[in-house]
Amino acid sequence: MSNSTFYVTTPIYYVNDKPHIGHAYTTVLADVLARYHRAAGDDVWFLTGTDEHGQKVQKAAEKNGMTPIEQCNSTVVRFQELWKRLGITNDDFIRTTEERHWKIVQAIMQDLYDRDLIYKAEYKGYYCVACERFFTEKDLIDGKLCPDCQREVDTIVESNYFFRMSRYQDWLIQYITEHPDFIQPAFRANETLGFLRKPLEDLCISRPKSRLSWGIELPFDKDYVCYVWFDALINYISAIGYGVDQARFERYWTSCIHLIGKDILTTHSVYWPTMLKAIGLPMPKTIFAHGWWLTGSRKMSKSLGNVVNPMDMADKYGVDAFRYFLLAAMTPGNDASFTEEDFLQRFNTDLANDLGNLLSRVVKLSIKNFGGTLPAPPPLQPLELELLSKAGLAVKQLENELNAMKLDRGINAVMNVVREANKFLERTAPWTLAKEGKTDRLAAVLYTAAQTLEIVSGLLFPIMPEKMTQLRRSLGLSEEEIVKTDFQSLSEFADPSANTKRTMVDMPPLFPRIVVEKAEEAAPAKPEKQKKQEIKAPKAKAVVVPEGMVTIEQFFKTQLRTAKVLEAERIEGKTRLLHLKVDLGNGDVRSLVAGIAQQYAPEDVIGKTIIVVANLMPAKIAGFESCGMLLAAKNETGLKLVTVDGGDAEPGLPVG
Ligand code: ME8
Ligand code: MG
Repeated sequence: MSNSTFYVTTPIYYVNDKPHIGHAYTTVLADVLARYHRAAGDDVWFLTGTDEHGQKVQKAAEKNGMTPIEQCNSTVVRFQELWKRLGITNDDFIRTTEERHWKIVQAIMQDLYDRDLIYKAEYKGYYCVACERFFTEKDLIDGKLCPDCQREVDTIVESNYFFRMSRYQDWLIQYITEHPDFIQPAFRANETLGFLRKPLEDLCISRPKSRLSWGIELPFDKDYVCYVWFDALINYISAIGYGVDQARFERYWTSCIHLIGKDILTTHSVYWPTMLKAIGLPMPKTIFAHGWWLTGSRKMSKSLGNVVNPMDMADKYGVDAFRYFLLAAMTPGNDASFTEEDFLQRFNTDLANDLGNLLSRVVKLSIKNFGGTLPAPPPLQPLELELLSKAGLAVKQLENELNAMKLDRGINAVMNVVREANKFLERTAPWTLAKEGKTDRLAAVLYTAAQTLEIVSGLLFPIMPEKMTQLRRSLGLSEEEIVKTDFQSLSEFADPSANTKRTMVDMPPLFPRIVVEKAEEAAPAKPEKQKKQEIKAPKAKAVVVPEGMVTIEQFFKTQLRTAKVLEAERIEGKTRLLHLKVDLGNGDVRSLVAGIAQQYAPEDVIGKTIIVVANLMPAKIAGFESCGMLLAAKNETGLKLVTVDGGDAEPGLPVG
């Protein structure tokens, strides 16, 4: 990313209803892009807002017994409050009922009318109330259904004003063909070109007030208001000063990226470019259409009662975890499924287990052994250098993926480094180095892990600004260093001696594990789709994994560790279960429920060194928290615990 201007917009959302997860997604995505560009020193402008005119809003107002502007005023706050809650750093918020907007819409209409680019004609057409769009007969499905939402359309005959959109068809086809970056992902450009294969009609841009009064009045005919889409699209230029502050407008406009959902592709990729062309303005740089959030595999809709409320998610699980999930779980461009199970799974593995654990290990060991201030380490060894070089590579990877709008892949690259760092700690075993008094090596290991954390937290900063601030503060970074997260700085490793000036501070767990209540033995079934994705996850080399086999990487996702059983007790009313307290080393003592009570009495297992799946999602079983699973061999007659040879191995050793 070079120092340049970056203007990013979200759709302006209808104020007929409260915001939901889809609105939150586009806005969080825009926010994260804006934050990365600001970190890079770019001149950023980030616009969002609300679309307040038109039939949808008028109908909602009627239903709620309000005037349209009352409807707008009461709903707009819900969007504004949500954006505040989600840490959205928009520079401006435009409402289409504001004078700064409607005046420009009127000026543009007048100008187009004066130049005969808007004309009056009799119109017979079909109108979809839900989509607020007119269609011609050939657009309809079965001659009566809306091609977008499949609802029945109304037939309408009336005089209206039309924008000469058809005039720009050939130009638009050529423009899209010659500018591969204009509509993204590329398959959406093809979709638009497909739409443009049919003759492009002129666009009806007025509504008679007798039918709809809630809109911007046409400056040349007081009996009509402007069609809501013609009004709404203009927000992208009215907000940055078009026609009023030309310098500001020119500073931002051509760098513009419009983020939208695929539902509003045609309005943005056909109506809007032809409008701009008629006005005499250059095109925005990119229109990026992302996919759809589904609930499970179904469309989210009020009638199905499966709409996810983003405010609830933020309240329940925290803003940053929610932001993280939205971006990590959707490949921009494709659809994604939202379920609370998926959310919890990702939360507990990526955030609680991988990232949270890494931080707490590094900070606790540094405080315990060095009072929180690492001494300058000796020259680094190959394992250490290897981890740091992987972290450095992740900086480049994230930057590239971000520029390609593949943020989920970038995040994955960063989280892989976090997992590598945990593995590194298991291999180098700093707790053992401490016990053996190998202070020099211990300092090198902790320096390496802390440096890695500094890099990954910087990379994740725009996604989880609050949590990454806390993390970086805990590493002992100064307030100035905390926010220094541009890719350039992150790719330059700190001189190890810089750490001698920092003091790490302990903090409560960054992402405390969320325990899921579930019925005894009900193993969490992964959705079919996710299973497939895991197997297909792109690796450096495309290896076909036969069904039933796993790759070594897949195997090592399961962290097996030695554990010492400290306590064991029977659970009342559960003849199969024992409740254990097990030590996984380095202060990690966990509660675990195991189905071994018919073969083992509590006193049989106390003191044994067993093997535990350490990164299993915690669950509540028979009223007890169970964090991990022990390994046992099974046949028809019963169970045999897997124990460690000799029985005196220390707890917490990696197995594999
Ligand atoms: O269309 N998944 O406003 P709108 C992903 N006012 N994104 C979703 C989504 C989902 N399930 N549901 C909504 C309008 N979105 C017009 C826009 S712009 C000049 C005028 C997001 O309130 C996505 O960005 O219906 C989609 O395009 C937008 O909300 C539609 O919001
Ligand atoms: Mg919509």
